Amino acid sequence: MPALEIRGLTAGHQSVPVVRDLDLTVSPGEIVALLGPNGAGKTTTLDTVCGALPALGGAVQVFGRPVKSLREAARRRLAYVPENRGLFRSLTVDENLRLRSRTRAAAGELYERFPTIGRLRNRQTALLSGGEQPLLALMCALSLNAELLLVDEMTMGLSPAVVLDLAEVIKQVAADGVAVLFVEQHVHLALELCDRAYVLNHGSCVLEGAGDELLGELSATYFAHDPSVNG
Ligand SMILES: Nc1ncnc2c1ncn2[C@@H]1O[C@H](COP(=O)(O)OP(=O)(O)OP(=O)(O)O)[C@@H](O)[C@H]1O
Ligand SMILES: [Mg+2]
Repeated sequence: MPALEIRGLTAGHQSVPVVRDLDLTVSPGEIVALLGPNGAGKTTTLDTVCGALPALGGAVQVFGRPVKSLREAARRRLAYVPENRGLFRSLTVDENLRLRSRTRAAAGELYERFPTIGRLRNRQTALLSGGEQPLLALMCALSLNAELLLVDEMTMGLSPAVVLDLAEVIKQVAADGVAVLFVEQHVHLALELCDRAYVLNHGSCVLEGAGDELLGELSATYFAHDPSVNG
């Protein structure tokens, strides 16, 4: 059974569709990238999958059943790192992590994996830097022991060294059987990390395939001016 199965999805805001007729699946253990230019509908898709937005048409199933709300998504072992990161800014780093973490050991392990955050565990979250906040949000999602992990703008704000660590962590969680669907602006990184990718443009899927196959295809077309692909 796929972890996530989207069939004929129409999604949008206030009944205005921005994503049309989208088919997308993610299997357990698979890393899937959702790519496309600004405004293509990537965040709208993720918001709909996790129940924050109602689908306007079609079907979204998580492990064989629809998800109707964010609360239900969490119960169903779906973790979502939204574009705004969804952290409690007035709480400390440690309080944010322990609110989500299933066990004390899980939080400790994450501090070891990401020592920059480990050193800041007593700091108020609002005071974290632009790169530390997204990293903490990812740690919170990882600490849920989710079976389906959705990450919007996965490497936004992160330094190159942290991005490399994070790519290893994503590979590790997928190797443990977690299904990962992520949105990423760095196309080269995304296609190297993912097993498969979907490219949205104006709300429709215009390309899909294995990451390595799409790398050549995209460098010549959609992302011809992206220096991370061509340079
Ligand atoms: N709350 C909203 N109300 C109305 N329209 C919205 C809302 N949020 C997004 N949109 C519109 O829906 C379209 C898709 O937006 P979406 O945020 O899904 O794009 P995206 O692919 O995530 O883009 P980006 O790469 O810039 O994050 C855009 O045209 C956007 O203006
Ligand atoms: Mg977006």
